[in-house]
Order: sequence, then C-alpha cells, then structure tokens
Amino acid sequence: MPHRTSFVHTKGGTGKTTAAVNVAGFLSRKDQHVLLVDGDPEGHATRNLGLEPERLEDSLHELLLSGVGKKDNGWRDCVYPTAYGIDVVPGSRDLHDTYIELSGENALQPSLERVEGRYDHVIIDAPSSYRHVVTEALKAAHDYFLVLDSSIFSQQGGQTLKSFLKKLPNRHEVRVNPTKALYLEKVDKGPLKRLKEGLFGPGEGEAERIARGVFGDRLTKLPYCSEVVRSQSEGRPLSHFENVPKEARVYEQLAEDLIEYSWR
Ligand SMILES: Nc1ncnc2c1ncn2[C@@H]1O[C@H](COP(=O)(O)OP(=O)(O)OP(=O)(O)O)[C@@H](O)[C@H]1O
Ligand SMILES: [Mg+2]
Repeated sequence: MPHRTSFVHTKGGTGKTTAAVNVAGFLSRKDQHVLLVDGDPEGHATRNLGLEPERLEDSLHELLLSGVGKKDNGWRDCVYPTAYGIDVVPGSRDLHDTYIELSGENALQPSLERVEGRYDHVIIDAPSSYRHVVTEALKAAHDYFLVLDSSIFSQQGGQTLKSFLKKLPNRHEVRVNPTKALYLEKVDKGPLKRLKEGLFGPGEGEAERIARGVFGDRLTKLPYCSEVVRSQSEGRPLSHFENVPKEARVYEQLAEDLIEYSWR
C-alpha cells in the first residue's frame, strides 16, 4: 500500500502547495513512484508540475464522483503523467461544486484506492477553504504536515490554531512519521514590516513561538526561497532545477524522512 501524506491547514496561502509539490519532486528524484492529488479547485499544484488544468479532460472531480458511485466511467483517465516522473490527479474548478455536493460523504479514501495501486507515495495537497475536505485528507492519510506561516492572521489566530490542532486525529499509534508542522518564513519588508512591528512589537516570532509551543522539535522551518516564483512560472518543481537552490533542501530532507518512515 502506498504511503499517503496530506499537506493541510484551514488558513490559505501558508505554503502547502509549494511544500507538497517539492516534497513530491524530491521523492521522484529518489526513484519513488509518486502520485500527487491536487485538491485545489485552482489547480496550483497541477500548474507547478507544468500542466494546465483547463486543457485536461478529467480531474479529481471525476475521481471523487466515481469513488462514491456517482460516476462509473472515465476515472481511469484522471491520472496524468508529468515531465518530472510524478503522476498527478489534477485539480479543477468543478471541485467547488463537487465539495459541496459530496459534503459528508467521505469520498476521498475510496477514490484514492482506485488509482493508487502502483505508487510508493500519494501526496495530497488539500484545499484550505473546505474544512470537511481538510478533515477527509487527514483521515485518509498515514501522515500529515500542518503548514503554517508568520502572517498577521496566523499570529492573531493563535487560539484558533490551537483548537484546530486538538481536533486533528492522533496518529501516534500508527506506523508512520509523527505528526509534523512546517513553518514558512515570509520575508516582510518596508511598510508591512513596520505595521506588524506596530501591532506586535519588534521581531516576527509570535506565530513561530505559538507553533513551537505546540509542536516542539517536530516543527520544521521552511526558509524563504526566492526561486519559488520561477518554479511556479516555469511549471517546474525546485527539485528539478539544474541548480537546486539551497533553501529547497529542506523539502529534500522531508522526502527522505517520508521514505524512511514509510518502510517502518
Ligand atoms: N519556501 C518558500 N519560499 C518563498 N515563497 C514561498 C515558499 N513557499 C511558498 N511560498 C509563497 O507563498 C505563497 C503561498 O504559497 P502556496 O501557494 O504554496 O500556499 P498554499 O497554502 O498552498 O495556498 P492556498 O491556501 O491558496 O492553496 C505563494 O506566493 C508562494 O510563492
Ligand atoms: Mg495551495
């Protein structure tokens, strides 16, 4: 059975997709067979892997409908190869309707079982705006990464974050990597930096302090990497750059950890 890993948070823009795509990229570089499931209606992970969701016939939409018996045909076509040795079940705009229609159905797990047979790893990039889908992505996974950032809303939302974490399933008894959080360092400059300092005092440590209080040494810092922009515009994971930026090595380490834990 493949090792399923979900990248989640209920807050948008924290670095989930970037982490999911690049961990998948490094898994592939290490000869693992990887399926990336793009749960985002905007298809950002699909785009970062060089495919245009609008040009693809099928997506996670068809696969989820087939998983709950609402569509019989076509789900085999939901998996697309990429230039990076990673296969992808694309995200698509239809997913907005799918998520509303299938709310409460637990469609993800049976859907994955249809397509994941030949893979070592399934990476699930969960959408932030559908809480029930985040929950499904957590339930279906052997392992998950909660991806946090240092934005103002992350800092103000410290209490919300803590109560959300309490609801996460306890995976410690499972054979897998203990629950981890990833913390994306964002570089603030000029007026935004001054605004934050006015609100919270100097330093950017509040969100990180809250997260570290919850996760201790299971919190991994994701350094800011300016090459992420080029990675997204070229549709190429950082793992597949000719010169892999040193800041991307953290994703490689996470991929190595996943390989190690998936064999335990
Ligand atoms: N390691 C990084 N270095 C620099 N910028 C990054 C890094 N990771 C993510 N970003 C940037 O942060 C922003 C949010 O990243 P990303 O799209 O991965 O977040 P997300 O949590 O998937 O968002 P959404 O909730 O919209 O799906 C993007 O502009 C991305 O370029
Ligand atoms: Mg995303």
